[in-house]
Amino acid sequence: MKTTINQVKQYEGKTVTIGAWLENKRSSGKIAFLQLRDGTGYMQGVVAKNDVSEEAFQLAKNLHQESSLYITGKIVEDKRSPLGFEMHVQDIELIHEAVDYPITPKEHGTEFLMDHRHLWLRSRKQHAIMKVRNEIIRATYQYYQDNGYVKIDPPILTASSAEGTTELFHTEYFDEEAYLSQSGQLYMEAAAMAFGKVFSFGPTFRAEKSKTRRHLIEFWMIEPEMAFVDHEESLKIQEDYVSFLAESVLNNCQMELKTLERDTSKLEQIKAPFPRISYDDAIDLLKEKGFTDIDWGDDFGAPHETAIADHFDKPVFITNYPAEIKAFYMKPAPGRSDVVLCADLIAPEGYGEIIGGSQRIDDLEMMKERYEQHGLTAEAYEWYLDLQKYGSVPHSGFGLGLERTVAWLAGVEHVRETIPFPRLLNRLYP
Ligand code: 4AD
Ligand code: MG
Repeated sequence: MKTTINQVKQYEGKTVTIGAWLENKRSSGKIAFLQLRDGTGYMQGVVAKNDVSEEAFQLAKNLHQESSLYITGKIVEDKRSPLGFEMHVQDIELIHEAVDYPITPKEHGTEFLMDHRHLWLRSRKQHAIMKVRNEIIRATYQYYQDNGYVKIDPPILTASSAEGTTELFHTEYFDEEAYLSQSGQLYMEAAAMAFGKVFSFGPTFRAEKSKTRRHLIEFWMIEPEMAFVDHEESLKIQEDYVSFLAESVLNNCQMELKTLERDTSKLEQIKAPFPRISYDDAIDLLKEKGFTDIDWGDDFGAPHETAIADHFDKPVFITNYPAEIKAFYMKPAPGRSDVVLCADLIAPEGYGEIIGGSQRIDDLEMMKERYEQHGLTAEAYEWYLDLQKYGSVPHSGFGLGLERTVAWLAGVEHVRETIPFPRLLNRLYP
């Protein structure tokens, strides 16, 4: 019977065959202990000299790390292992002998590991991070589908910018110039006018010359957009969604969180409602905390965000930023033309901005005015202006960065380990 490691509990006392790689081994005299992995889990195979052919025993003793094999044996309970079971091996069939696998159990430098990312993904920690990522992806689809949103896929190749022109990736589009999408938002606004509540989940490109633990050149963003939903209602959706992600990871990634040595008490605190602080008050708070390098009108840097986040024991919304430092499409706050109805959600523990969101301008004249102020030409956005011309309604939306969320929930220092093949300022390989 062929099965996988995550299924072996169904086969206690029975003989099964598993396709696996050798993660590690130790042997002495008449016994060899093989640490096996098959992608679904980890299991120990015990090879006793008396239970197998001489050929199979010699093979077990001489196997190299990452060699692939079909291994057959009896599944027996083993209370000491995290899996709860091990295999008493009866036969081993070598599929492929791996020689001099470059990633050994000793410590390696980050650049070396990044150069071998295609192999590094096999390591336990990386495997656990990708499983957490997968759980966040799964829970995202569940959350939006269960709450009546329609998934809409905005284009990747675009003719105009959504978030400012300095970070665009240029590419040829026959005899036109095109950009890689830096946000699907404008298209999602069109979709919200057709379907009410929509969400997208796709790759996003930012030619940002930032080399920090929070920046990728290519990352994945979830962008919900809702018609007839104001800023305040949007914040409730955001905190509910993020709480659901934390709960899903806590419930469904217990083994992974253990592998990652994540302090799960921190994740248990991620429960709606989240505190809110206005940009005005955040500036005052920073001044009280002794920051002299920031004034009203400046954007926050990582140290500022971290200082504000440290003031609360949950993720915090910083609301109503100055219009000048935010995107053109954000709606001014009532009675305050200098600030806009927006919020950034800042994660605790220094993970920074997870979500950027806002209520959108729904008035044609105001939108045209904002184009001018932001130095954009209204012609490039002709189709977008149609949304304000034909049945414009109050609407809001936001974007959650997948990799920053994975880093935060998994407790990983740098976003480069939260995406299978990171694209960084100095890295397009592998
Ligand atoms: O704040 P941003 O730029 O917002 C938008 O793009 C809006 N159009 C979203 C919307 O309202 N539909 O980006 C949203 C999130 C950030 O909060 C952050 O989590 C993530 O995307 N993000 C990045 N993640 C990794 N690397 C980068 N370079 C990122 N830039 C933004
Ligand atoms: Mg932002």
